[in-house]
This record gives sequence, C-alpha cells and structure tokens, in this order.
Amino acid sequence: MIREIVKYPDPVLERQTEPVTEFDDDLRKLVDDMFESMYAAKGIGLAAPQVGVSKRLTVIDLSFKERPEDRIILINPEVILKEGKQYEEEGCLSLPEIREKVSRAAKVKVRAQDLDGKWFEMEGTELLARAFQHEIDHLDGILFIRRLSALKRDLIIRRIRKMQKAGEW
Ligand code: NI
Repeated sequence: MIREIVKYPDPVLERQTEPVTEFDDDLRKLVDDMFESMYAAKGIGLAAPQVGVSKRLTVIDLSFKERPEDRIILINPEVILKEGKQYEEEGCLSLPEIREKVSRAAKVKVRAQDLDGKWFEMEGTELLARAFQHEIDHLDGILFIRRLSALKRDLIIRRIRKMQKAGEW
C-alpha cells in the first residue's frame, strides 16, 4: 500500500522516534509499504517518520528497484563509525524540489537490526554513506536543512512559506 509522504513542516519529521520492539507481520507490512511509497515518490531512501510513523526504521535502495539485493532495511540503526568528509547535493522527499550541498562523513559504519531482530553491521561510502547519515538523521528528528548554515536554512524556509501561501507546497 502506498502511503502519503509527510512534508515539512509536519512536526512528526522533527520528533525523536521510538525504537522498534515488535518484529512481527505489522513491521513487515510497514517495510513493504515504505518501499512501495518510496518507489512511487521516486526516492532512494525513506524513513518511517516520512510516512507519519515515529519509529526507528528506514529503507534504502540506491539501485531504485534494479537489484533486489540492494534493498537495505535498517531497524533501530546507529552510526558506529564515521571517517573522512564529503560535500555533495542532497534532497529529501519531505522537502520536494529543495536541493543543497551538505557536509557528511565520507565513510560510515552502521549497526542495525533486520526484520527478524538480528543485529548486523554494514559499511557505506560515497552515496550510501550519505544515505545512511541522511536517513538516520530523520530518525533523530533532523532534516537535512538543519545541517545547512542558518542563513541558507532561513532562505529555504522562507521559500517554502511562500510556496505554502501560493498553494504550491
Ligand atoms: Ni529525507
């Protein structure tokens, strides 16, 4: 089932999420819905708060349906190692049309649980490292515009307010 993507400034996006504790059929359904909703919105990463569920869970697929083995499900993820720096453009399905360069670590290792609750570790560089950081930020209630300078962020927020008033957001 395709769920509606929640847009900024919905408060669910800036709230700390709750850990996932039940590894049941409801969780599997939520994960399926998140992949379906992400593909429908043409995204490569989606965090549970973006479908209005304040749970510590995110899905990523950098291949966009091309390779099933590229589907990543991170439940209760934490970043356990960060190395180097990268500065590349990012976007977010909850902030459509907004793209800005964000400073991130170049290499990241995460620890997370799978759908059975089993812990695993995974390493990512470049785009995958950025996706890990962007999506885990979502789970801590941090949107990527919070990673920009105050000046840039204010300009973007003003632009969004203008679009809201014009009924374009
Ligand atoms: Ni996002």
